[in-house]
Amino acid sequence: MASIYRANDKLIGRDVAIKVTDTSDKSWKDIKPESILRQFEREVQISGQLSHHNFVTVYDAGKEGPLCYLVMELIDGATLTRIIKEDEPKLDMRQKLDVLIQVARALHYAHQHGIIHRDIKPSNIMILPNGQVKMMDFGVALVSEGSMIKLSDAQIDAIGGTPYYMSPEQVGKKDVDGRSDLFSLAVVSYELLAGRRPFMAEHLFNLYEKILRTDPPPVQELNATIPGKVAAIISICMNKDPDLRLPSCKTFADQLDEIINDSFFEAEGEVITEELIKLLRKYREAFTFFLDLDNSQIYKLLQVCQVRKFEKDKVICYEGDIAREMYLVVSGEVRIVRGKVEGNPIVITTFKRGDIFGEMGIIDGGPRSATAIASEQCQMLVLHQVSLLRCDDTTAGKIYRNLSHILSNKLRITSQRLDDLSRRLEV
Ligand SMILES: Nc1ncnc2c1ncn2[C@@H]1O[C@H](COP(=O)(O)OP(=O)(O)OP(=O)(O)O)[C@@H](O)[C@H]1O
Ligand SMILES: [Mg+2]
Repeated sequence: MASIYRANDKLIGRDVAIKVTDTSDKSWKDIKPESILRQFEREVQISGQLSHHNFVTVYDAGKEGPLCYLVMELIDGATLTRIIKEDEPKLDMRQKLDVLIQVARALHYAHQHGIIHRDIKPSNIMILPNGQVKMMDFGVALVSEGSMIKLSDAQIDAIGGTPYYMSPEQVGKKDVDGRSDLFSLAVVSYELLAGRRPFMAEHLFNLYEKILRTDPPPVQELNATIPGKVAAIISICMNKDPDLRLPSCKTFADQLDEIINDSFFEAEGEVITEELIKLLRKYREAFTFFLDLDNSQIYKLLQVCQVRKFEKDKVICYEGDIAREMYLVVSGEVRIVRGKVEGNPIVITTFKRGDIFGEMGIIDGGPRSATAIASEQCQMLVLHQVSLLRCDDTTAGKIYRNLSHILSNKLRITSQRLDDLSRRLEV
């Protein structure tokens, strides 16, 4: 349907991607250039409404003669199509589930803003080298849907847009809501984990029949290493009846997150021993973070935390990485730097026993703004975003309050520094 060019915006000096559709091409004969332009413009508008780190930013749209174009952020990464077909870059089970969780959370964000993507498929999902998901093609979906009705099977094959990922309600031309995207995401999940699409057919009609009426083979039959709970979630979300799927993409993400963390704790985490709990209780005063939690709450919290050791100079988390966990320094010292680790990064601050960092990961799950490196051997208590879901509301409430205290303190210090700096600059 389009060609994508890598281009350079000379005015701003940044690389961009330009999607160009040549409406004089014969496959477009029934479609007016204006309707494509409108869809591109709609995409710019949607991008303006949805500012989210997992969505590609769209800058501009326009028309030059028969050419309609869309200018967007250039993503230097791989599409899920490539990951599925070529197994390159190679992702392990945990990384694949992490991709699906990011897609689901981003979709939930869009759904909350009243936007249904309608064209969730591997070629519209890209992965940056740091694992961050970038999704694209909002708003174009309506054109492809509308045009598919008019195009023959052969034409659809020619433009490569076979609708393997459509939900039964899309096929049946019924009203769709977020659960339609959830169905498509389940189809993508199936393909990513099993290496094969759940619904396949030679002809479009048969494909539609399958989507409407048949259940695909259980995903574990194709790949036995898929955890049973994951297979169950995918199967539930591919239900023909939206009411029988999980209620939202958020539930999908939360459930996968829990599964990842269950196995994660077993695999990587050091068990929290009674001894350690005693120690932490004893030193509660030092960890102001725990100050207003009672013993049973600390106990519950520690059960969902991990203890990790980091050797001297080991990177604890990288700038730009998607943040999902925060750290409490139990022992040792950590330096927070900005810039390339191999280069000469600027040290912003250092943290010692009792200090907390990375708390934004718990709150918004966005990219990290700095890198944390162990200055000496460190022991860290790690709290993952989903761990909080396992705490009771009172404990979680107290933790969030403590986190907001920490954040407001850091914000105050930052404003003071900014103020000092601007005064110095004035002098
Ligand atoms: N912003 C971008 N940055 C980098 N590569 C991109 C960008 N947008 C698209 N691409 C690449 O170009 C390919 C084609 O994108 P395009 O959206 O035209 O086609 P598609 O997703 O395969 O099908 P459809 O046109 O139905 O969306 C993508 O799969 C991706 O590899
Ligand atoms: Mg696309």
